[in-house]
Amino acid sequence: MLENPFTVRGTIQNPSDFIGRKAELLHIVTRLKTMQSCSVVGERRIGKSSLLYHLFQTGNERLNDSRYRFVYIELTDASAQTVVDFLQTVLQALDLPTDVIKDDNTLIQNLIAFDKVIKTLVAEGVKVVLCLDEFEGLFDNPSEFSDQFFNQFRTMCNHQRLAVVTASRQPLEVYSLEKKLTSPFFNIFSIAELGDFTPPDVEQFIAHYQAIAQFTPQELDFINRYVEPHPLKVQIFCDMLLQWRDNGFAWTNDEMLDKTTKVYKQFLGGEHDWRKLSRTKSFFSVEGIGEKLALIKAARDLVTGQ
Ligand SMILES: Nc1ncnc2c1ncn2[C@@H]1O[C@H](COP(=O)(O)OP(=O)(O)OP(=O)(O)O)[C@@H](O)[C@H]1O
Ligand SMILES: [Mg+2]
Repeated sequence: MLENPFTVRGTIQNPSDFIGRKAELLHIVTRLKTMQSCSVVGERRIGKSSLLYHLFQTGNERLNDSRYRFVYIELTDASAQTVVDFLQTVLQALDLPTDVIKDDNTLIQNLIAFDKVIKTLVAEGVKVVLCLDEFEGLFDNPSEFSDQFFNQFRTMCNHQRLAVVTASRQPLEVYSLEKKLTSPFFNIFSIAELGDFTPPDVEQFIAHYQAIAQFTPQELDFINRYVEPHPLKVQIFCDMLLQWRDNGFAWTNDEMLDKTTKVYKQFLGGEHDWRKLSRTKSFFSVEGIGEKLALIKAARDLVTGQ
């Protein structure tokens, strides 16, 4: 039985499995060149964490500048529930002393101590970029993450001691209005909206896995006909197709699509109905996948010297 490479449902951790998102990455990287902050906004499971994590992994390369130091933190993580924990987590990730942040300090004392340590890095020419995933997590603790906290971060960003790249389901202003926060911190972000994969992204996804999955022309045709360009849906669709193949195509087409729709619902919530799908054009040509695959193989051979 072939290996099934389509079982990932969480953040893409292996940079070579990260597909597409060229425009969004370019948008962010262009702004980071001048230390401007960005906010990645997109619906659930659209790929926000994967994008942020990929930026964290490849940012230096993309900026072609080793002075940048990227930190990735999930703000729903237990280590980011209080200001003290959050500041210490950031400093630890930057290999800086964390004991300047103290439980019995006032908020302002801690923020000043944090800024002071960051300034030492800035003086060495380091450019700190905080990739803050699930930023909405901070709004769940309004007594900790107050206007005063956000104002200090705005000052640091304004003076380019930091740049922040956030990911959240809604624009940050929506949460700040809801929580009655008035800090101008929420106006500094350039928004990068994350939506479905583009057709070339879908094609790249299929071509990337074709060597392992070995989709037949009929299977590629079926994918073309029914796959939706939501990244997690593409992943689930291919997973279901391999399961279908493994059971000797025991389900009818409709049964396969109904089962797939159920899995969409399990991971994405909401309603999904493949019958409403009116595909106007295919995502890729079956021959195109073959050509892409040959290019990928040629590039690999070049690297491995075969
Ligand atoms: N660029 C990508 N390349 C390949 N697969 C992707 C990509 N982006 C997203 N995916 C697929 O979508 C799934 C969900 O992605 P991810 O967890 O990054 O979304 P999210 O927007 O952070 O979700 P949540 O709203 O739950 O935080 C991944 O497990 C992966 O299968
Ligand atoms: Mg996420």
